[in-house]
Amino acid sequence: MPARVTTPFGSATTAMDVMRGVDLGGTRAIVTGSASGIGVATARALATAGADVTLAVRNSAAGEAVADDIKQTTHNQHLAVGQLDLSDLRSVRAFLTLHGGSSPMGSQATCLMG
Ligand SMILES: NC(=O)c1ccc[n+]([C@@H]2O[C@H](COP(=O)([O-])OP(=O)(O)OC[C@H]3O[C@@H](n4cnc5c(N)ncnc54)[C@H](OP(=O)(O)O)[C@@H]3O)[C@@H](O)[C@H]2O)c1
Repeated sequence: MPARVTTPFGSATTAMDVMRGVDLGGTRAIVTGSASGIGVATARALATAGADVTLAVRNSAAGEAVADDIKQTTHNQHLAVGQLDLSDLRSVRAFLTLHGGSSPMGSQATCLMG
């Protein structure tokens, strides 16, 4: 029987708890829905760990405000904002053209759906 998968994390674990001790320098993350809620917390935790983070948002002004706040609070300046409406395939294609890198999602990009 395979070993049971266990985790030190629980219902009270925060994104920052998960990232503690993790170095994401040299990696890139795209976080959708990152103008509010869980997406903001996810983007902030990734930036704190040193990742280059692209906020993929419908409302660019809201995304820019979040990016500015994350830059100030984490001292990670590698934040970008891209306009993306996941319900519109033309918007998805346009986002990938501008922010996707050389391969469809960039060679090292991780996409987190908020
Ligand atoms: N599994 C769990 O235990 C659990 C717990 C909590 C939440 N969730 C889920 O996690 C997700 C996020 O929760 P939340 O509390 O952070 O919600 P939220 O504050 O409402 O955030 C949702 C985000 O998604 C964006 N969004 C919605 N439709 C979009 C589209 N078509 N294209 C691009 N972006 C779009 C919104 O953008 P705008 O700002 O433009 O509206 C908003 O930034 C939800 O689906 C929620 O159900 C799961």
